[in-house]
Amino acid sequence: MNVEEQLDFIEKVGKINAGKNLKYTIYTMGCQLNENDSEKISGMLENMGYSKTENMEDADVIIYNTCCVRENAEDKLFGKLGEVKKQREQKGTIIAICGCMMQEKHIIDKIKKSYNFVDIIFGTHTIHKLPEDLYNVICNRKRIMDILDIDGEVIEGLPIKRNDNIKASVTIMNGCNNFCSYCIVPYVRGRERSRDPQDVINEVEDIAKQGYKEVTLLGQNVNSYKGNGNLGITKFSELLRAVNKIPGIERIRFVSPHPKDFSDDVIDAIRDCDKVCKLIHLPLQSGSTNILKVMNRKYTKEQYLELANKMKERIPGLTLSTDIIVGFPGETDEDFEDTLDVVRQINYEQVYMFIYSRRVGTPGDKMENQVPEEDKHRRFDKLKALVESQIDENNKKYVGTVQKVLVEGKSKNNEEMLTGRTDSNKVVNFEGPEDLIGNVIEIPIVSEHMWYLKGQI
Ligand code: 5AD
Ligand code: SF4
Repeated sequence: MNVEEQLDFIEKVGKINAGKNLKYTIYTMGCQLNENDSEKISGMLENMGYSKTENMEDADVIIYNTCCVRENAEDKLFGKLGEVKKQREQKGTIIAICGCMMQEKHIIDKIKKSYNFVDIIFGTHTIHKLPEDLYNVICNRKRIMDILDIDGEVIEGLPIKRNDNIKASVTIMNGCNNFCSYCIVPYVRGRERSRDPQDVINEVEDIAKQGYKEVTLLGQNVNSYKGNGNLGITKFSELLRAVNKIPGIERIRFVSPHPKDFSDDVIDAIRDCDKVCKLIHLPLQSGSTNILKVMNRKYTKEQYLELANKMKERIPGLTLSTDIIVGFPGETDEDFEDTLDVVRQINYEQVYMFIYSRRVGTPGDKMENQVPEEDKHRRFDKLKALVESQIDENNKKYVGTVQKVLVEGKSKNNEEMLTGRTDSNKVVNFEGPEDLIGNVIEIPIVSEHMWYLKGQI
């Protein structure tokens, strides 16, 4: 892939668009990796002369960046496409869809059959070709389908337009080799590809210079990151230590690691690096050794607990968050009790709970012992009640403490208040002068509420 070529297309489209005051809107589904991809798409579009609008009717280009990890997204996408068909007919709006769903054959077939007005379809491996695709649509008004089944290369050197000016995310690797049996990601994002450590460090240095304070390192499986040796970095722990040295950055987070790759050197790096937040996301998925085996997670209940306890011992002030799926095929009430047991033992800071959703093409979808919907929902509600009672209890522990808070801006619900987050990612709302925004300050916590803490300076 030739980046220069795409930069040329950016220039060409920019010339065609000059003086036309064109706008784009981008609708992003799914995880932080997709959000980060959308920032890259925005960067390309803005360099081609489009400015961002939240208002779909004003847009000359509409982009849907899709996710296919769980259900609903498909219905949502097709609903939205129905809405914009008329706009395209009336004012020639360019419609483009990209993201994980575009790597699924049954979705592409459906778009070709029932939504053939879509101008550009591009996949997860061809994001960087948007300038060329757009150029061809503008000049030839032909429909473009630009999807690669094989893994794309790691592309460097294209522009990016970030959504926030205090927190930024930096993708360090793409794809996944694990094939957990419920998960579609390895099929739509391909095999693991790590970025050159030099490129990662350059990007973090660059955002630090722009004034960003927090960086989140992103990847489907960050702790299997493999550096090519540049800057002496070959693995994730070394990358963490290098990022920790970058002046200006005050906080480092990362998602998602896999418990099976949580080696001692990673634990030590988290402990040693003062900027690395001590809230670690450690996806459990299930607490039952039987289910974990069928999920192909490569650890048992006991091994997970051992790892979590080891981390707690070695890293002072460690808190954990997790992902849990309820209702995976074959899950019995007894298996589910094991999940509850782990949740009770670990006392997570945050639990992201999901009802198992069948994904076409995954082994889980072919299993015959699917759990009835009502059982899934009953278990989900039980887990939710446990988690909420734990969060409630945990929040109480914050009252009376002083927390280091990165002040992010004005509160969305109340213009008078500022809002920020603790190291453990709890939202703290408080009254204070605007010039605190972008600083890490110590705030006494005076009261707790389900989804935020109240501070007073
Ligand atoms: N059904 C439900 N949840 C899923 N996840 C991934 N695939 C599925 C699925 N088929 C959840 C996992 C993962 C998170 C990002 O999404 O918990 O960690
Ligand atoms: Fe999916 Fe498992 Fe890979 Fe995570 S590690 S992206 S859950 S296959």
